[in-house]
Order: sequence, then structure tokens, then C-alpha cells
Amino acid sequence: MNVTVLNGPNLNRLGTREPHIYGAATYRDLETLVADTAARLGLTVEMRQTNAESELLGWLHDAADTGTDVVLNAAAWTHTSVAVGDACAMLTGRLIEVHISNVHRREPFRHHSYVSAHADGVIVGCGPDGYRLALEHLAATAPG
Ligand code: DQA
Repeated sequence: MNVTVLNGPNLNRLGTREPHIYGAATYRDLETLVADTAARLGLTVEMRQTNAESELLGWLHDAADTGTDVVLNAAAWTHTSVAVGDACAMLTGRLIEVHISNVHRREPFRHHSYVSAHADGVIVGCGPDGYRLALEHLAATAPG
């Protein structure tokens, strides 16, 4: 089973970025967690991060075309981008939305997500472990 794990802006700064909110794990640590989880579950997982919204849109279009399941942390675009929401609406595979922090315990502008309405599941506030949980859920509930 193929899964693409897509990450939006500033997530490449994990580890140094507001560690009191996002923790000490670096983006590299997250890549390792995702790769180890994929290997354990027998999944083929590609993980990507971008600070350019058009690049994320292109990856979502690719996933829509191939029917690939997506784990998405759209970061700040979650709360601002109708375009990211529209791209999520086009997905043909399953979509799990992940946020490292508990966005509902933070500023009100983080309480709305343009992604959630199109997601099969949403995981917030579990730290990097949320990515592991998302992959385990997709593997455990794979259709067919
Ligand atoms: C985030 C939460 C967003 O509100 C924020 O803009 C991020 C990261 C998270 O993973 O907790 O960049 O998506």
C-alpha cells in the first residue's frame, strides 16, 4: 500500500522552532519515525515538506490522480488556504489530517481547518507520534 506524507510550511524547522509547542524532535527525526513505521507496517511511504504552496498543491493533485492515501500536515495553510482545501476535496484515496500541537488549545485562528471537512480522520496534539498513528490507522483499515 502506498501513502504520501505531506508537510507544509515551517515544518522543516522542527527541533528549533518553538520547542515548547512542537517539541525537540527535528524534521529528520520525523522522517526516521515515518520510515521506521512504514517498514514495520510494510507500507511504501514517501514523505515531503515544502514552504511553497504551489508545490503542495501539485503533490495533492498527483495523489488525486494516483488514488494514493495521504497523511497531511498543511501547517499554517490549514487555517488560511481555500486552495489546499479544494485540492483535498479532489483526493480519491483516504486523507488523514495531522497536527503535532493541539490546535484547539491554541489561538482561535488555529481552530478552523480548510482540510478537516475532506479528511477521513484528524489527529491533533499527539506530537510526532500522530504520524505513526495515522499510518497505523491507514494500514489497519486498508480497503480490500
Ligand atoms: C501545526 C499547527 C499549525 O497551526 C501551525 O501553523 C503549524 C504546525 C502543527 O503541526 O501543530 O505550522 O500544523
